[in-house]
Amino acid sequence: MISYKDLGLVNTKELFKKAIAGKYAIPAYNFNNMEQLQAIIQACVETRSPVILQVSKGAREYANQTLLRYMAEGAVQYAKELGYEIPIVLHLDHGDSFETCKSCIDMGFSSVMIDGSHFPYEENIELTRRVVEYAHKYDVTVEGELGVLAGVEDEVVAEKTIYTRPEEVEDFVSRTGVDSLAIAIGTSHGANKFKPEQCERLPDGRLVPPPLRFDILEEIEKRIPGFPIVLHGSSSVPPQYVEIINKYGGALKDAVGIPEEQLRKAATSAVCKINIDSDGRLAMTAKIREILATKPAEFDPRKYLGPARAELKELYKHKIINVLGSDNKA
Ligand code: G3H
Ligand code: 13P
Ligand code: ZN
Repeated sequence: MISYKDLGLVNTKELFKKAIAGKYAIPAYNFNNMEQLQAIIQACVETRSPVILQVSKGAREYANQTLLRYMAEGAVQYAKELGYEIPIVLHLDHGDSFETCKSCIDMGFSSVMIDGSHFPYEENIELTRRVVEYAHKYDVTVEGELGVLAGVEDEVVAEKTIYTRPEEVEDFVSRTGVDSLAIAIGTSHGANKFKPEQCERLPDGRLVPPPLRFDILEEIEKRIPGFPIVLHGSSSVPPQYVEIINKYGGALKDAVGIPEEQLRKAATSAVCKINIDSDGRLAMTAKIREILATKPAEFDPRKYLGPARAELKELYKHKIINVLGSDNKA
């Protein structure tokens, strides 16, 4: 059993309390390789933002969970080396079973998500409650989820969003004891968050997605005032990256994300954790495609992964400063 406290990590409790009071959201960025982790830490140190490092089930399989844990431990030291100590959370994204959550808690994660949103309500409560009971023994915080996001979530493909039912949240939160709640108000995972027919098409071909359901968010806030809310699927799918990818041989069609001004508005509410993964993937892929296409003789991975990392850092800083408002909150 390794305690996250010995690794210099923190859980989400204090961070969320401050984020709600200060009307901003903490960035939850996914990582599964060194360049992503470096970019996240550099961006957060330079903007003095707290950060949640997220590891998905896919990331654990891809990079090895032990390596990822040591990388997160290294990130704490790396931040100090860069000259400013920031609060760092190591979080399991979309935990799919009690065993996965336990294994992460036992190896030094400071926060876990148990995603029981695909199960019937009572099963979701029972699974989430079990994880909370174990996690809280070690002061690890737990995120639960109510409602289903359209798109791919934990290898389960949902055709349609099932919005969170506000009338369920009080019961879910009190019976499970979770520390935060992920809700479905119209965000979704990946780079194609909406079907073109759900959007308005502008004359230049760009798609305008339907707005987030702020009415549901407000209703939830009324029922559980001050309780930390999480938004998954919050990439904005910047058109400039999609354009570069397609210009240099990619084939992203009708990619569309959540407009940044809607996320900025959400960040001022009880939404205190905003999950962003796809935008980082797009930034890296755009840069790598551009370099490989324009410098065909290049074959040193550092020559394309380095610029991709720099691009990623700028993206993360932009999110922190202009969307989440978590700069200077560390
Ligand atoms: O919610 C999903 C995250 O973007 C992680 O994706 O399971 O492909 O690593 P992944
Ligand atoms: P995006 O696919 O919108 O980046 O969402 C990421 C996410 O929710 C990770 O849990
Ligand atoms: Zn997610």
